[in-house]
Amino acid sequence: MERLANEDGSVVDVNDFAVVERIIRERRTNMLVDRDRPVGSDIIESLCSLVMWAPNHKRTWPWRFAVMTGEGRLRLGEAAALDLIAQGSDDEIKIGKVRRKYARTPVVLVVGSAPDQHPTFHDENRDAVSAGIQNLLLGATALGLASFWSTAPVIDGAHTLELCGFEPATRIIGMIYLGWPTGEGLPGERPEPSITVIDQ
Ligand SMILES: Cc1cc2nc3c(=O)[nH]c(=O)nc-3n(C[C@H](O)[C@H](O)[C@H](O)COP(=O)(O)O)c2cc1C
Repeated sequence: MERLANEDGSVVDVNDFAVVERIIRERRTNMLVDRDRPVGSDIIESLCSLVMWAPNHKRTWPWRFAVMTGEGRLRLGEAAALDLIAQGSDDEIKIGKVRRKYARTPVVLVVGSAPDQHPTFHDENRDAVSAGIQNLLLGATALGLASFWSTAPVIDGAHTLELCGFEPATRIIGMIYLGWPTGEGLPGERPEPSITVIDQ
């Protein structure tokens, strides 16, 4: 951990950093799960609570959740299919897949971002919800759960919003699949970020 040495000679405790870094690196998008092994409601509630610690400009607390288990996952698929049809889709294969796909894991969380009349705050709500979802995914990884963040077929579809109990104009930021892993996600090959340092 020499690379974290501070240039003024002070000592930086890197133990917590090492734990956080390991969990961040371990998290992988993974759909290989045991469909029949439930994820307990206490676990789900604990994960949802992690979202509220995300940074949130104006403290609007924009996150909204709907938890889909059992038959609820099929109702979610039906609502999403109806939203696709309402949007003009007549692709029967795609619509059929959407009807079934939320049953692939024992639980699916629908995470919404509440609307704001101010366009900047509307978008910042979405940013806060995304930051919160990452908290949730890291918590899931720490518990040994597999997770998969997917985009809703229609992010503001009326049928899905109504099923979830979300107010109109809420945007669905993620459909989060969760389950106990039976295999691993793809390894994360990724480039280092580009960093510009300006010091004079
Ligand atoms: C906003 C957002 C939406 C995503 N939607 C999808 C999706 O609809 N389908 C999918 O296969 N992956 C989706 N992903 C997951 C990415 O494909 C995945 O994070 C990426 O391949 C990197 O893999 P990793 O998460 O294992 O590092 C989404 C990720 C984000 C942040």
